Amino acid sequence: MSYDFNRVIERRFGSGTHSFKWEGYEDCFPGFQIDTSQALSMWVADMDFETLPEVKEALAQRIEHGIYGYPSESNNDAFRSAAIAWFERRWGWSECQRDWMLFCPGVVPALYASVQAFTEPGDGVIVQTPVYYPFMGAIQDSGRTLVNNRLLEEKLVYTMDYEELETLAQDPANKLAIFCSPHNPVGRVWSREELQQAFDICARHDVLILCDEIHADLIMPGYRFTTAGLFDQYHDRLILAHAASKTFNLAGLTSALVTVPNAELRMRLANQFMLNCLSRGNTFGPLAGAAAYRTGDAYVDELTTYIAGNMDHACAWLAEHLPQVQVAPLQGTYLVWMDFRGLGLEEEELYHRVIEEAGIVGDLGRWFGPGGEGFMRFNFATPRANIDEFLIRLQVLQRV
Ligand SMILES: Cc1ncc(COP(=O)(O)O)c(C=O)c1O
Repeated sequence: MSYDFNRVIERRFGSGTHSFKWEGYEDCFPGFQIDTSQALSMWVADMDFETLPEVKEALAQRIEHGIYGYPSESNNDAFRSAAIAWFERRWGWSECQRDWMLFCPGVVPALYASVQAFTEPGDGVIVQTPVYYPFMGAIQDSGRTLVNNRLLEEKLVYTMDYEELETLAQDPANKLAIFCSPHNPVGRVWSREELQQAFDICARHDVLILCDEIHADLIMPGYRFTTAGLFDQYHDRLILAHAASKTFNLAGLTSALVTVPNAELRMRLANQFMLNCLSRGNTFGPLAGAAAYRTGDAYVDELTTYIAGNMDHACAWLAEHLPQVQVAPLQGTYLVWMDFRGLGLEEEELYHRVIEEAGIVGDLGRWFGPGGEGFMRFNFATPRANIDEFLIRLQVLQRV
């Protein structure tokens, strides 16, 4: 291994790094007593690993210049070009065009803007719960109607409910469907056939497809990611969101690319970006993203192997010491979906036992919508020593 993912880097309160993941509990966990100096933070989706050296070098070089004024659009162009080459090299998608790609300071802002650009107040937008909660936020905060096509689950393996999707898509009030691919929090990497079936339904009923592929490169060994971009036949109704932020730990540099092959849709989204004041780029994010996409292949390969190792390690321990807790198989992302229903605890008691008694901060299952009850999500992009600490702390659940 050439990257040291075992190294524990201090991020807690007082380290001066101002990490939301390690300090930002107050607003998000009302009613919970969390000791900031002791808590083991496994919620927000950023990593406790350093990014790759080439990214640090590119940033250091730019910092040396000393002037950090407003960047021009050409600052984003290297990011676009490196992303296109990455899509081809890593996912086999060679058709992506540079002028299809809009810069946006994040995937979540792009979700909000897309909902606002492509639907009217009151229109229905389809999601598949349990799902990353800002999907719901983007719809409801924008005054649209949340329409749930809940995932089916069998032994913690999740699939899409196509029959229900067809029923929902048939309703002319439902104009847009948002897909999470790979799916946070259930860890599925959707196959080409699964995506095709879902997109066919959307196309049949004139529903637009917004595909959030921010976790596209966090694919566990043995699985293969399929970008929605590969489906030329849906390009006229497709909006794709990508970022280098999850994969290379750059989320604080707030940069994403939204790819819209259809010119009319792209113009509508670009206008919405302007209305939401999202059009201006930032100096460092695109630079870092470009360096990562240009040089990050080995980093990603080692990273995903390391995360899979964390997962195997934790699953072996749980099977032996806490078999009432089950884990959804991790095909993609570094976010692990754990089922605590076997403990027979009330929902609130479960959360309090894990967060306050065990001192582990994870995302509450109910945040992810229907299907999240009795679950919690934990971020496994952390050194093995933290996974060991996580398991030691979980032992409090042996005394239920
Ligand atoms: C599916 C998904 N989309 C978007 C984001 C956040 O994107 P951004 O930080 O670019 O707004 C996350 C972060 O956890 C995520 O899991």
